[in-house]
Amino acid sequence: MSFLRRPLALGRPFLRAVGSSPPAGPISSASTNISAFMPEAAAFPGVRDYPSLLHLSLGQADRFWAALARDRLSWISPFHTASDCDLARGKVRWFEGGRLNVSVNCIDRHVHTSPDKVALIWERDEPGTHVKITYRHLLEMTCRVANTLKRHGVRKGDRVTIYMPASPIAVASMLACARIGAVHTVVFAGFSADALADRIRDGQSETVITTNQAVRGGRIIELKQTVDQAVRKCPSVKHVLVAKRTENEVPMSSIDIPLEEEMMKEEAVCDPVAMESEDPLFLLYTSGSTGKPKGLVHTQAGYLLYTSVTHRYVFDYHEGDVFGCVADIGWITGHSYVVYGPLCNGGTSVLFESTPVYPNPGRYWEMVERLKINQFYGAPTAIRLLFKYGDEWVKSHDRTSLKILGSVGEPINAEAWDWYYRVVGDERCPVVDTWWQTETGGICIAPRPAARDAEIVPAMAMRPFFGINPVLMDDQGKKLMDNNTSGPLCIAQAWPGMARTIHNDHDRFVNTYFKPYPNYFFTGDGAYRSEKGYYQITGRLDDVINISGHRLGTAEIEGAVNQHRVVAESAAIGCAHEIKGEASYVFIILKDGVDMSEAVIRQELKDIVSQKIAKYAAPDHIQIVKRLPKTRSGKIMRRVLRKIAESKLDELGDLTTLDDHTAVQEIVAGHRQMLKEEAEQPASRH
Ligand code: WTA
Repeated sequence: MSFLRRPLALGRPFLRAVGSSPPAGPISSASTNISAFMPEAAAFPGVRDYPSLLHLSLGQADRFWAALARDRLSWISPFHTASDCDLARGKVRWFEGGRLNVSVNCIDRHVHTSPDKVALIWERDEPGTHVKITYRHLLEMTCRVANTLKRHGVRKGDRVTIYMPASPIAVASMLACARIGAVHTVVFAGFSADALADRIRDGQSETVITTNQAVRGGRIIELKQTVDQAVRKCPSVKHVLVAKRTENEVPMSSIDIPLEEEMMKEEAVCDPVAMESEDPLFLLYTSGSTGKPKGLVHTQAGYLLYTSVTHRYVFDYHEGDVFGCVADIGWITGHSYVVYGPLCNGGTSVLFESTPVYPNPGRYWEMVERLKINQFYGAPTAIRLLFKYGDEWVKSHDRTSLKILGSVGEPINAEAWDWYYRVVGDERCPVVDTWWQTETGGICIAPRPAARDAEIVPAMAMRPFFGINPVLMDDQGKKLMDNNTSGPLCIAQAWPGMARTIHNDHDRFVNTYFKPYPNYFFTGDGAYRSEKGYYQITGRLDDVINISGHRLGTAEIEGAVNQHRVVAESAAIGCAHEIKGEASYVFIILKDGVDMSEAVIRQELKDIVSQKIAKYAAPDHIQIVKRLPKTRSGKIMRRVLRKIAESKLDELGDLTTLDDHTAVQEIVAGHRQMLKEEAEQPASRH
């Protein structure tokens, strides 16, 4: 199995032979009786296996999705039109005419059938202290938050910013918005005050929900203080609801409202609002190739259906299973596979508040043992980190409950995949490398669903989900028809889970996703299609980098760095990093006459990025240069900088289009010098 130990080169197709015995799939005889696997398939005569169901889902998409929407969702009134889409104009509409309430689908209907079933297991930061929340309890909490929001003036269509770590009250806050038709915008609680303020302003939220403090890795984080700083820059904010994560008192101002105290004054019932299928459910900000993050808009029915169906079939989730997705609710993975997918399916979902190494690197697996988790879904960056600590942390815990392992957020290298499969899953659990994006709403390419005996190629997302039609493009923008080929990855037809627009900027939505390849959704990623037609994601094609599975635009980093008084110009790029996948490396040109030590400049620039964006965004390396390599038209040659940053000096390529190629020699010399200095002072490294 030595081929598995070769790390996957990011950004390049990874060709390899497949191991002899692929992991057994979780799906019961899907190859012979598809309706045993997907009951809805019984409605489609002649469809017997996964490929024919995929074929039907593409050829008769309306019929396919309409059948699933009727079967899986509870409607207040039925839809009359399955879809009305025109990708060239960025128009995507599903299930029009229908009205429903997402919180009813995620809670009330399960309260009717099994009120005492556990909906959420909150794995608190404090080791060994989980809290179980039943569907009945979740409904009560959600209604009380909903009534509190209403009492403070929140109405249908209003945006509510949620800045909280994973907790039942955070989930209840999301669902409370859904219940009254407000639009939540969850901001990852690791973002800085400035980043939070930008998002509050862009979304024009008048209400913010937060906690007094957060607890992570045994440390207290002053979350409310960050909100206070952000709110000072957002005059639109009228109320800040503050939940208590700790017993500590924090200063409260006139706009701050103690959430639990208010909730207790409210009734535990709240009538759900009937929402149109295409009313917005939430905004979620993500990075693009400009300095301004975009608030992607997801709507009600299509998103909910897509998360429910993918959760059910990619992970083969069955009644009674405990689903453990360790993503934070601040990212799309938390929205789709901690909250909406599992709860729509009446499942039991784990809410993970801690870190993979607290109190020790066995945290995940101790939790798997204690909570008897059946599906574990995490990020490659954590797998790579844990791999370094060795097998004992895994093997000392009972993992026999695990049935399937998932990976998301960034390419998983073969070595990490192999360890996940062999050590964590005991060569027993299929590993699903799931490719998708904030924009796609749910998983689009993954090894499952497929027949039980269908092969899984390590470190490959492989197969399109139902309704997903991936295509690769050539340089002329034409569809590549062959296998064993690479190109920009597009999706050729609409599916219910895709984002509908960018908040307040539909032109940007159309220009970013539908203009590059007219009539196709452009993902921004490149992919390779193997001889057998399987897909492997090769990485971003735009100026977006992926640090520990978190998307970040290089323009955002440059925007932050350029605000420092000594910086004349900067260029941020992503370079390969053993654990984080990518790290940021910033080249800067100083203004004339700056008289500060380089060490101080570096530290201040790291601080400014932490302060303007988030700690995880702080550059690993900052190199001060005199000139940047530019083309004659003045464009920075990032390709060259990336090679230098990765010390791939013999791969600099063609430099003849550069305005002045001596700049490159200078930068190379500076890079070598910087590495030398960093090696001598390990403590100063980030
Ligand atoms: C990357 C996260 C390779 C990709 C759900 C995508 C992946 C971006 C994978 C979206 C994967 C996500 N293999 N790359 N399995 N999953 N990506 O919006 O570049 O935070 O475009 O959504 O992460 O990141 P986002």
